[in-house]
Amino acid sequence: MLIRRIKCLGYLGIRHSSSHYVTTPIFYVNAAPHIGHLYSAVIADAHCRYQRLRQPESQVRLCTGTDEHGTKIQQAAQVHGIPVATYCDQISERYREVFRSANIQTDDFIRTTEQRHKRAVAHFWRTLNSRGHIYSAAYSGWYCVSDETFLTDSQLRLDEASGTRYSLESGHPVEWTEETNYMFRLSQFQDDVRHWVKEEARIRPAKFEKILLDTLSEPLPDVSVSRPSNRVHWAIPVPDDDTQTVYVWLDALVNYLSSLGYPDEGFSAQWPPAQQVIGKDILKFHGIYWPAFLLAADLEPPHQLYVHSHWTVDGQKMSKSRHNVVDPVQASQQYTMEGLRYFLLREGVAHSDGNYSHVKAQRILNSELADTLGNLLSRACAKSLNPRQIYPSVHDEHLADLLQSLDSAKRLQEQLLQLSDRCATHYDCNHFHLVADTVMATLHAANNFFESSKPWLLKSGTPGGGNEARLETIIAMTMDALRRCGIVLQPIIPQLAQRLLDKLSVPATQRHWDALDSGSFATATVKSPRQLDGQTSALLFQRILEEKKEVEKPPQQAAKRSKSKNKEKRRETMS
Ligand code: MSP
Repeated sequence: MLIRRIKCLGYLGIRHSSSHYVTTPIFYVNAAPHIGHLYSAVIADAHCRYQRLRQPESQVRLCTGTDEHGTKIQQAAQVHGIPVATYCDQISERYREVFRSANIQTDDFIRTTEQRHKRAVAHFWRTLNSRGHIYSAAYSGWYCVSDETFLTDSQLRLDEASGTRYSLESGHPVEWTEETNYMFRLSQFQDDVRHWVKEEARIRPAKFEKILLDTLSEPLPDVSVSRPSNRVHWAIPVPDDDTQTVYVWLDALVNYLSSLGYPDEGFSAQWPPAQQVIGKDILKFHGIYWPAFLLAADLEPPHQLYVHSHWTVDGQKMSKSRHNVVDPVQASQQYTMEGLRYFLLREGVAHSDGNYSHVKAQRILNSELADTLGNLLSRACAKSLNPRQIYPSVHDEHLADLLQSLDSAKRLQEQLLQLSDRCATHYDCNHFHLVADTVMATLHAANNFFESSKPWLLKSGTPGGGNEARLETIIAMTMDALRRCGIVLQPIIPQLAQRLLDKLSVPATQRHWDALDSGSFATATVKSPRQLDGQTSALLFQRILEEKKEVEKPPQQAAKRSKSKNKEKRRETMS
């Protein structure tokens, strides 16, 4: 019966697809934001920005926020010696601030301590209860405060020496708990959840679908959805029973509904989410509990869960105890926030963990944003080549000749012809690293073309030169490549892309995805020259010169490093 209902709801969801609701997880306020948290938000933001570019008429909505209840938060506030509400305000504000500075374009920032959310949780609870999905029972088991979850014996590791048990998955310690709780009949939803997971492309990448299906191949136990108030008081009370508080994961998951105004009418216009971005550590909660809770409340589960892997530092998990947590604010002082966004989306892949390293970030940003992109813009705008400071139009006879006589011109044209389709395919799968790859390949082709067409020999006054029309055509072709790459890069580096398009005086109405579709240089470039924007600098991204002090490397590696430094210096001189 329920399975039939999911099919029917799915069908309706597809018909009303003008709304595109996207969420990030809500972030625990037990510690300050790090780059892993920012990564979840940047993925969701880039995804939404692409949707807006692609379908300007669709109603894209991005929601993020903070998860503020539970023992973990209670304890963190205690450690800091401040009242828990004040503590939540402070850390929540830091998330808001980081997201603001990283240009995460959110439509809502929800906090689980807000009244609108508490009301939604109470309503959701009553709905589950009135439909018979909740019962009271004596419960005992191992509880992991860090992960806020009960774990079964098979999910634990016993440290013989200390007698302490740890979660196999997260490595956090657990404690034995015996209490009377409310339970949710998760076991009754096993088939429905399995059906939902197996629906086309519900869980992406596919690796995580497989993980969920493995879990779902074993019988699901019912799950505890409340804790005694005398143990967990910093939480939402269970409606009509103030001896119990709502389990923090049930509380937290409902944020996705509260943000839309649930239970008021009107929330359903944007329900269900088109995409929910989550990290791999919270897959069970979003891939099993969440669809089960929703189905139990007669609501449609999300269309897609997009699961990403984690950032490690020197191959190790980031954690406060290892003192290796990367602070996004500090990182942005080294690379700029746009640089950090680019690095995270360029280097991170969803299906496996990525290693964060300063050397790698510096190398990528210098070679791709400063040299390949920034340098080309500076050269095309240089007063020596472009004294009138214009985005010229092509001269048809020179365009035809360049395309015929120069391989590099043909290669550039080929790249540009494929740019829109290729990048759309990659964006549709959130494969931002492949978008960046494709854009960089195009920009390399543009750099090659610029280099091999030798525009500096065509300046008036050059012996044997003085071919203004050909020079303008070369600059126009180069600017066309930059313009298109700028349009494509908007979701990844919104501010840098904006500066690039501003510099080229691309009107706001011609920055959406369809503006990429004009086929060749001849049809794509401006028909009459336009003035470049004199207010915007052509220096797009400053090279990162300072190197963090590294642990001393063996002489062989040090020599290699200084060789590559020389190479970089040479490149700088050349530009
Ligand atoms: N509060 C819960 C989520 C509730 S959603 C209803 C939570 N919060 S969290 O702050 O611990 O994590 C938020 C997000 O950050 C998760 O998607 C998590 O995977 C992600 N990351 C935390 N550490 C990370 C890395 N080291 N690398 C990448 N992402 C990581 O879980």
